[in-house]
Amino acid sequence: MPGGTLIVGASQAGLQLAVSLRQLGDTEPITLVGEEVHPPYQRPPLSKEFLAGKAGPESLDLRTPSYYAEAAIGLVVGERVTDVALSPTGPPGSGTAVTASGRSFAFDRLALTVGAGPRRLTVPGAGLDGIRCLRDRDDAAELRRRLGSASRVVVVGGGFIGLEAASVARALGKDVTVVEAADRLLSRAVAPVLSEFYRRAHLRRGTRVLLSAAVAGFDGTHGKVTGVRLADGTSLPADLVLVGVGVLPRTELAERLGLECDHGIVVDGQARTSDPRVVAAGDCTVRPHPVTGLGRVRLESVQNAVAQATAAAASLLGRAAPPAPVPWFWSHQGDLRLQIAGLSGGYDRHVVRGEPDSERFSVLYYRQGELLAIDAVNSPADYMAVRKALTQGTNVPASLAGDQDTPLKALLTTRPTAVPST
Ligand code: NAI
Repeated sequence: MPGGTLIVGASQAGLQLAVSLRQLGDTEPITLVGEEVHPPYQRPPLSKEFLAGKAGPESLDLRTPSYYAEAAIGLVVGERVTDVALSPTGPPGSGTAVTASGRSFAFDRLALTVGAGPRRLTVPGAGLDGIRCLRDRDDAAELRRRLGSASRVVVVGGGFIGLEAASVARALGKDVTVVEAADRLLSRAVAPVLSEFYRRAHLRRGTRVLLSAAVAGFDGTHGKVTGVRLADGTSLPADLVLVGVGVLPRTELAERLGLECDHGIVVDGQARTSDPRVVAAGDCTVRPHPVTGLGRVRLESVQNAVAQATAAAASLLGRAAPPAPVPWFWSHQGDLRLQIAGLSGGYDRHVVRGEPDSERFSVLYYRQGELLAIDAVNSPADYMAVRKALTQGTNVPASLAGDQDTPLKALLTTRPTAVPST
């Protein structure tokens, strides 16, 4: 096999890395190896249009089949890399990777874009038929098939996967219950005001939402799930269960290489691992906060995968990576369109703009008077204004942000305005 760059993980990040290498003028061989049988595809529609049957499998592909030949990117699908080692004697950064089927790939440069896998429940009955997760394309196709005949759906986990899939199931007329372990929905990503909004909005659409609810086990007959048992003794009948309780970054290969891992492969702002000859990008990584540079965050988003992969390509070629863009994210739960710009972690004040029950409002987050982030529900103009402010380093004074009669874009100030926190 040729040397050149080996990219392990035919993910959105993996493909972007290959594309960016070519865009930067790299003419060396590039091999992109993926475990799944599909060429790189987009995940966001899997829990939305694809699950709802409104988008076919072809619409998921990130590139046409001819693109790979045209760009001279060697795409190898259906091969799981099980071992990788850097050569102690060869040129720095070179080495060999081996797959489960015994194929071996020599490389001069290595990138890990291996993503994350769904966290599984280990309670009794978790292996019954009808209990599914939703992470990859085959998971989504199978869930979509089963949704056709299901009538009672229990969704374990009120995060993004759970709520997007619950919206689809409910729109298909299913009886849907969401079981969330925490005392509010989406607690990892949004403020309590948003969590409460989503609880009420899903209730209005006929979905039951149980909070602070622990799954004790699953019941079944003839190997097939019939219900979910909660720790308080409640029994929820179900013929289909979706478990969406978060992801675990894949760090096994990085650990074999002796790279530093901390709930993800540790990378710097230029996507370099603790061995700077090896880069990593996407959901498998933890990185410095993209705005403050402080601490470590794992950003599970398409935007971060693309930005990190772009930086990784530059690093592999010995060039400076572009500055980290403002993070953004979206979630469509039926007709509820959430757009997030910035990172709200560490906020000391938030301003609600509009009435949540109108289903058109936004929440702006501040620390010491400086704008950190926005969560905008069906409010694209607010989202765009804040994304622009964060990109330019301008501010929206917290004291004015709640006035819905004034467009946010008219409130951008050229310098951060210190507003005392409440
Ligand atoms: P998540 O971390 O967003 O949410 C998991 C939820 O499950 C949390 O609310 C957590 O409290 C709950 N949970 C954990 N253990 C539980 C248990 N035993 N019983 C009940 N609830 C439990 O992860 P999720 O929703 O699985 O999504 C996986 C990944 O996919 C994330 O990286 C997410 O960001 C991404 N994603 C992104 C979307 C988007 O871009 N709009 C859409 C869907 C998923």
